[in-house]
Amino acid sequence: MRALITGATSGIGKALAHLLASKGYALILSGRNESRLQEISHALKTDYVTADLEEKEGRQKLIEVVKNELPDLLVNCAGFTQYGEMISSSVEEQMAVLEVNGVAPIELTLQTAHALIKAKKKGVILNVSSAAGDFCSPGMGLYGPAKACLTNFSRTLNTELAPRGINVLVSLPGMVDTEFAGRAAGKHVKPSGVVMTPEFAAQQIWKQIEKRQEKRTFNWFYRLSVLLVPASLAKNMIWRRIKQRL
Ligand SMILES: NC(=O)c1ccc[n+]([C@@H]2O[C@H](COP(=O)([O-])OP(=O)(O)OC[C@H]3O[C@@H](n4cnc5c(N)ncnc54)[C@H](OP(=O)(O)O)[C@@H]3O)[C@@H](O)[C@H]2O)c1
Repeated sequence: MRALITGATSGIGKALAHLLASKGYALILSGRNESRLQEISHALKTDYVTADLEEKEGRQKLIEVVKNELPDLLVNCAGFTQYGEMISSSVEEQMAVLEVNGVAPIELTLQTAHALIKAKKKGVILNVSSAAGDFCSPGMGLYGPAKACLTNFSRTLNTELAPRGINVLVSLPGMVDTEFAGRAAGKHVKPSGVVMTPEFAAQQIWKQIEKRQEKRTFNWFYRLSVLLVPASLAKNMIWRRIKQRL
């Protein structure tokens, strides 16, 4: 079994790379940071490809890998944002958030689906979205809207393709202790509240893949929040929490 993972240089993607390697997957890892990719690939004896998903060329590079290698599993895990009011950053900076969290995984998913169908092969595509996409997420720019689109897209395509043996799954983690918050705030941030480890998140993703579960929100706290917390209250709570990190 062969798997391609984007965002494999840190956090959830890196933890998932370790987990999938332990399950016997042959891996192709991707990210921008080549020295990190070299280190992880050396440790896990895998291949790697550098690609910036903000750029059309970076996405094209990975599309070529998909067409040539026809992975049984694609995990679109790369993602980022910048905290702050949407208008405090440039339109170009916001569009980059949309490109990496929305456009890139959607383009890669569709290209992979086409390649698998052409080769008459089954497969699994798992998109790492976010519980933030189920709420309005002030202070996270186009991140929430991009993840909302990714979640809706994945579920729609899964309904169409699952009968053909291609599953498009979507994971919605809550807060995970990775480099994500620090990168978004531009300074060291220790996530507070209900926080998961990246290893826990990777286990959740693996369980989802095994069950071919279309959508999985983790952990229980975020599942309950989506059900019980009114949307107007949730968005104000999120905004307050992000302001504390600025
Ligand atoms: N941490 C959370 O609380 C949380 C919650 C919900 C959802 N998520 C989602 O989980 C996924 C993984 O995030 P994480 O928490 O593991 O954060 P992380 O530790 O910051 O990892 C993010 C990964 O995305 C890659 N990446 C960022 N920008 C990229 C670009 N332009 N091109 C290619 N790769 C890029 C990074 O690699 P390079 O720097 O090498 O490019 C890195 O491997 C993301 O999709 C995120 O939205 C995270």
